[in-house]
Order: sequence, then structure tokens, then C-alpha cells
Amino acid sequence: MTPSDADYLRAVDLLVAGELVAIPTETVYGLGADAANPAAVAKIFAAKGRPADHPLIVHLAGHDAVDHWAEQVPAVAWELMETFWPGPLTLILKKQAWVPDAVTGGQDTVGLRVPGHPVALELLRRFARAKGEDAGIAAPSANRFGRISPTTAEHVAEELGDRVPLILDGGPCKVGIESTIIDCSRGEPVVLRPGHISPLHLEAVLGRLPEIETSNGAPRVSGSLEAHYAPTTPLRLVSGERLLDFINAQRHRGGKCAVISANQPPQAGMPHAWRLMPADPVGYAHDLYAALRDMDHAGVDLIVVEALPSGADWAAVADRLRRAAAGAGQG
Ligand code: TXA
Ligand code: MG
Repeated sequence: MTPSDADYLRAVDLLVAGELVAIPTETVYGLGADAANPAAVAKIFAAKGRPADHPLIVHLAGHDAVDHWAEQVPAVAWELMETFWPGPLTLILKKQAWVPDAVTGGQDTVGLRVPGHPVALELLRRFARAKGEDAGIAAPSANRFGRISPTTAEHVAEELGDRVPLILDGGPCKVGIESTIIDCSRGEPVVLRPGHISPLHLEAVLGRLPEIETSNGAPRVSGSLEAHYAPTTPLRLVSGERLLDFINAQRHRGGKCAVISANQPPQAGMPHAWRLMPADPVGYAHDLYAALRDMDHAGVDLIVVEALPSGADWAAVADRLRRAAAGAGQG
């Protein structure tokens, strides 16, 4: 799936004119606007229905643009960039004074990321040629606020439809869940959102396991609100041992349920739908949002997700499922 030259030209024209463009990244699709243009950034919040104090990630074509957006960048942040960019890692850094409040939610920090998807990188490079070499694209996930992040161009159309003038199609996202966010603005790096780049990957650079923020204070990271990534159908996490009994009880009550599980369905007592997931965390993450979206459309009363193994390598998927359960059934 490769956009044509004409698609890229149109995308750059729209961005330069202060309009929105939906872009594929290796994590999820983003809803992009010129990050230096507050009026353009305001359109992102309007299209998503997102509260204005939630900061956005600025996507850059390469490391060279970092100093334009951030200051007092610590050595450890440069090491993380060297190792993981282009890729699914966002760094929170002290912002340069000029960076618009619309992007940072009025905070003194800015989130930066060089994405690994070839279409995103090509667009960023062309946008930088048109706007100036340090230009950036502010882009949150291209879903309505609180809903499931899109991992295909079709999902974006379903979420935002005519609210976005152009959706660049880069095929299904390879990673499938949002970038790991690590705060390098307050001394020791702290993980604010777990993702594909795991604490073990980070340990290889940091020399020790990073701290993981667990406090539920102000929504510095919108994904840190309890309810997020949520289907409109209620969703329950149920342990493997209780799963069959739970499904049977549900059926006796006349409720239709759909199951998401990394295990084969039982021979008897099949629920309405069974989505078999990869048994490894990377594969599971890749399929997660499409599975939630499919099951949300399956015409059932309840989505039942079999609880995951507890290992650290499952932390990112477990985080998204916990929030999906917290926010589900509100549509
Ligand atoms: O993988 C991703 O990160 C995707 C793709 C499109 O790049 N983007 C994404 O954006 O997930 P969004 O807005 O859905 O989530 C980004 C998170 C938000 O929860 C936001 O609060 C946090 O990053 N964030 C951005 N700037 C921040 C800052 N200065 N301080 C703390 N958190 C920040
Ligand atoms: Mg999001």
C-alpha cells in the first residue's frame, strides 16, 4: 500500500494550508496537522472531540529537528533516539519557549517522535522541504476521543469519515498499539505509557530497568485516564479457569457474548463469536484493536477477554485491555 506522488503532494498542500491529514504510522494511524500552526492543531481537537488540555505528540523527519522543539535535552534522551528512532518511542522533553500551548496542553514539555513507517517518514520529509527543515506534524491517534485507536485506513474512515479531508493509506500498522512514552524531562527517565519498546529494551540503553509511572494524577498522558481504547459494547476480563463457567452463565441469562482469547474455543458451548489471538505479546498487540473493533460490531451484549499471562512482556497489552474494560459500554 503506497500513496502516489499526487497523494503526497495533496497531503503536503493540505498541511501547509492548515488542514488535517490522517497518516499511517507503524503503531496506529495518526490525525496530523502542522504542529507550528495553532489554528490547524485546534482542528485536531475538534475532529476528535478531545479535551484541549491533552498534549499531542510532534512527529519529526529526523533527530536534527529535535533542538528546534526541545531544550536541555539530556544525554540519555539522545541515546534513546539513537537506538530506537525511527520507531515506536516518544520522548517527553523540556519544550522550546515558542512551541504552541495548543500542542503541549500548556505544559512546559513536548512529546517528540520520529516514526518508523515509510509513508509517515516520506510525508514528514516532503513537509519539511515545503515548510522548513525542522517542521513537525502533531498527531494523536486518529480515533474519536476515548475510542479504539485505528490500525487501518478503513478504521480511520469509520472513526472520522468526512471530518478529515485526506486519509493516506499505508496498509495495516505493524505494531498495532501506541508508542512507548518515556519522560526525560525530570531527571531519571520514567515510562508514562508502556508499548512495543518494553522495559527490557530500555534497560539495554539505560543500564537498569526504568521506573514506570503508576500514579493517576492529572492527565498528562491522555492514555493514562482510566477509560480509554474502548468499544461501545461492555467488556469484561475473565481468567482462563473461570471462562467456560462465565460464558455458560451468560448464555443461561440469554446474553450473547463474543470471546477474545489466545486459546482454541471449547468443543461445546460455543459463544456467539470466538476471536483466536496470537499467543505471543507482539502478535497479540498487532491484532488487538482490530479484534476489539470486530467484536464491537458482532452484535453481542458482552465482549469477554480471557485474562493475559502476567509477565512484563505482556504489560503494554494488559494496560490497553484494562483501560478498554474501564471505558467500554458507554456508547
Ligand atoms: O504511537 C503513537 O504514539 C501514536 C502515533 C499516531 O504516533 N500517537 C498517539 O497519540 O498515541 P495520542 O495523542 O493518542 O497519545 C499520545 C499521548 C497522549 O496521551 C498525550 O497526553 C501524551 O502522549 N503526551 C504528549 N505530549 C506530552 C507531554 N508533553 N507530557 C506528557 N504526555 C504527553
Ligand atoms: Mg489516542
